Amino acid sequence: MKAIVLEEFGGPEVLATRDVPEPLPGAEDVRIRVVATALNRADLLEREGHYPPPGEKPAHQIPGLEVSGVVDQVGERVTAFQPGDRVMALLSEGGYAEYAVSPERMAMPIPECIAVEEAAAIPEAFLTAFDALYQQGGAGPGSRVLVHAGASGVGSAAIQLAHRRGMSVMATVGSQLKVEAVRAFGADVAVNYHHEQFLERVGQWTQGQGVDVLLDFIGQSYLGDNLKALALDGTMVLIGTLSGVESAIDLRWVLGKRLRIQGTTLRSRPIEKKMALVQRFLKEAWPLFNDGAIAPVIDRAYALADIAEAHRYMASNQNIGKIIIRMET
Ligand SMILES: NC(=O)c1ccc[n+]([C@@H]2O[C@H](COP(=O)([O-])OP(=O)(O)OC[C@H]3O[C@@H](n4cnc5c(N)ncnc54)[C@H](OP(=O)(O)O)[C@@H]3O)[C@@H](O)[C@H]2O)c1
Repeated sequence: MKAIVLEEFGGPEVLATRDVPEPLPGAEDVRIRVVATALNRADLLEREGHYPPPGEKPAHQIPGLEVSGVVDQVGERVTAFQPGDRVMALLSEGGYAEYAVSPERMAMPIPECIAVEEAAAIPEAFLTAFDALYQQGGAGPGSRVLVHAGASGVGSAAIQLAHRRGMSVMATVGSQLKVEAVRAFGADVAVNYHHEQFLERVGQWTQGQGVDVLLDFIGQSYLGDNLKALALDGTMVLIGTLSGVESAIDLRWVLGKRLRIQGTTLRSRPIEKKMALVQRFLKEAWPLFNDGAIAPVIDRAYALADIAEAHRYMASNQNIGKIIIRMET
């Protein structure tokens, strides 16, 4: 099958199309004929050699954390899917390929109202956002939530999930176009960080009380203000470190406000925990797609042959929502 294989690390030019053996499903796996995959920021890091797949080194390092497509083979113990089913799945590697294998319990049916290609935009963004808000952040109806990088793939999913669950949401973004986008996703307040300080806006918005839960992808440059922006007993969920990894903080903010800083990574989490997350998401959030209450946000789609261009586009920070890669070229 055709796949994008990392044989060396570096810029987008190292993304090489190769013919590799098709993966075979184990007893509890489904094999998916991939219609589309979607880009994640982690793919850029993996391409540069900074984010290897968990576990043993694969024979062919194929990036790609999610796919959508049609089930083409099932293992002998699979009960929930059969060949021909429309399916989307969270992967820990291997999405940039014509076929991918997923444990049955990590695969999800594609909601009826969503096209197969569009569904590639769902697994990583929505599962990460769902986990960060509820499981890691403990947010619920009435919580005040601050979502940084609100127009990112994960941010766009988090704002929708929070808004539909009765939370108040503030989002930070880097352009006027993104301000309008995050308002449409359901943010009550949108802050363009080039023109305004988010900390000041949090103070005005919450009458000085701060936010209950904060989803941060930025890391280093935001950490000090993030701690100041949190309410008493607030939680910051650290999901990414886009601005850098080291930061000095005044621990009195953590101590005095009884703050919690919760780090999270989905890819390296034990498979049983990822399966449990997928099953909880299916029960609690998946039905919202068919109600039209939440939807994948897709910026644009590229053909597999243009994968390098797609990586450059993501690195330019312009995308609002997800970037899809179509498998058929
Ligand atoms: N921990 C996990 O399990 C997990 C899972 C999925 C994703 N992630 C992380 O979540 C983050 C978002 O991923 P994604 O794929 O959704 O990203 P994405 O769609 O590429 O969006 C990232 C956005 O972040 C903003 N940004 C980038 N650098 C910044 C900086 N230095 N300061 C402020 N804003 C900056 C940019 O938007 P603006 O124009 O608004 O600045 C950029 O468009 C990444 O850090 C990714 O690694 C983590």
